[in-house]
Parts: sequence; structure tokens; C-alpha cells
Amino acid sequence: MTLQNILPWIQEAHQHGYGIAACNANTLEQMQAIVLAAQAENAPVIIQVSHRALQYAGSGSEILGLQYMAAIGKVAANSVQVPVSLHLDHANEQEVLQAIALGFTSVMFDGEGLSFAENVATAKRLCTIAHSRGICMEAEIGEVPKPDGAELDPAAIDLTNPDEAEQFIHATGIDMLAIALGSVHGLKDKSVSLDLERLRAIRERVDTPLVLHGSSGVNNDNIAQGIKLGLAKINIATQLNKAFTGAVRDVLAADEELVDPRKYLGQGRDAQIEVVRERLRFVGAAGKAG
Ligand code: G3H
Ligand code: 13P
Ligand code: ZN
Repeated sequence: MTLQNILPWIQEAHQHGYGIAACNANTLEQMQAIVLAAQAENAPVIIQVSHRALQYAGSGSEILGLQYMAAIGKVAANSVQVPVSLHLDHANEQEVLQAIALGFTSVMFDGEGLSFAENVATAKRLCTIAHSRGICMEAEIGEVPKPDGAELDPAAIDLTNPDEAEQFIHATGIDMLAIALGSVHGLKDKSVSLDLERLRAIRERVDTPLVLHGSSGVNNDNIAQGIKLGLAKINIATQLNKAFTGAVRDVLAADEELVDPRKYLGQGRDAQIEVVRERLRFVGAAGKAG
């Protein structure tokens, strides 16, 4: 299938209490793993690429990274029969506009560091442009930290204020709202619990599909409860990287003479297929491709 605007599948998931997995990809093999897993589970899926993934793919040039990822994403989507969306993850205004021009079907504007008013103004402007092109728009209120190995004070995390979430949605018209419930990006173990009371309070005010960032570090029970309470897009990156890299590490450790990258990257791809399949079943998206 050609790349799809995933919004109808997100809305369906939101209505029926299951989730859509949004899987980050950094390499060709990771993109392939995501669509092959989705095909095997007959599930709609989102491939997403972060700012740092773009820089990596473009060897430092973001626009080249966007071009590579747009091209590979289109081929990956066309290679399977399930709906696939290509989403730009955590992006600034310029990246969002470039991704829209290059054929991404979903974008996230990350207004981190902006005031509420500036975040609203930019998200609203970009949302109008995205909608005029049939593209799905996500933005964020609150902060899901990206400590990247640095010390983090959990008490200092800016969790989403339910009133602000409501105001933000009405003021911007966005399709999906990323909220902060205590998760943290990049954790290798599922050690974090979500503030589910806060999620309930947000859900009482807001009927828009909600997005969980940093799901790799959240315990599964909380993710499952969160999905029932309105988290419809579940972002997964580190858990996939861990599976991919773990398999590559094992293959290389087992054979010091190995030099053919296909032999270790292929093992990484296979391992990632299994973990994406498990996540698709876990969020309830398996069998939902129609
Ligand atoms: O939210 C972003 C994902 O965790 C991937 O981040 O590509 O910057 O490591 P990264
Ligand atoms: P994790 O790497 O913690 O799974 O976070 C993924 C994410 O939120 C991508 O936007
Ligand atoms: Zn994120």
C-alpha cells in the first residue's frame, strides 16, 4: 500500500480501547522489520523517525536524512498490504514543513522550551498546513524527558496539566496530543509507572487520541491500563533498538571472523521483527488492518 494518513486507524483504536504502535527506525533494516512485523500480524503501523535519526541517515544533513527516510519509507510501505504511516517524531517547525513536502503522512511538532502561547501559535500554524495536505498532526503539552544517560530528578518532570491539554487542543486543532505522565525517553528497563489519575483527569476533558512517549521504560500493566484510558499511539524506540543490537552483539561475539554485514544486520532485523510483533499484539493492533 502507499503511505497512509493513519488518523482513521488511530481514531478506530481510540474508540475501541486498543493502541497503534509507532516504532522508531534508524536504519533500512529497522524500517523493514517494522513493516514485515505489521504484515505478519495484519496490523496498521506507524514508522517514525526522530531528529537524530535524520541526522544519522543524512550523515549530518537533516534534509538529506529526510529524503532518505521518505524514500525508504515509501518503498517499505509499498512492500506490504497493511496500512503504514511515515511519521516525523519530535521535530521543529522547519523539519515539519520539509517532511510534509517530502511525503511524510504524519508529523509531530515538539514545542519543548517554548511558552504555552508560542507552542499553541506554532502548532496551530503547522496544523493548518498539515491538514490542507491531508497529513496527521501531533503536538505535545508537558515534558517526557530525554536524559540520554544524565541524572534525572523525577520530581522535576513537567507533567501535563489537564486544563492546559484541553485549551491546547481547542486552540490548535491537532489530531493527536502527546502528554507527560511520568515516562522518560530511552530507558532500557520497564521500571517507570504512569500517573494514571492524571490520565483520567485529562481524558475527562479531552476526547482527542493521546500519545505515550517513552513507552520502553514503562511497565506493561500501566501501558495496558493507559491504552484503556485513551492512549492510542504508543511510541517505541529503545525496546526495538535493544532487541536489534542484542542480536547483532550475540552474532559478532560468537564469530570473531565474521565480516559480512548482511550476516549480523540480518540477525538484528529478525530479532526486531519478533519484538515488534509482540508489541503489536500487546497494544491490541494485531488483526486490525482490515
Ligand atoms: O523520542 C525519540 C526516540 O526515543 C528516539 O530518540 O533517535 O533521538 O535516540 P533518538
Ligand atoms: P523510548 O525510546 O523510550 O521507547 O521512546 C520512544 C519515543 O517516545 C519516541 O518518540
Ligand atoms: Zn518521544
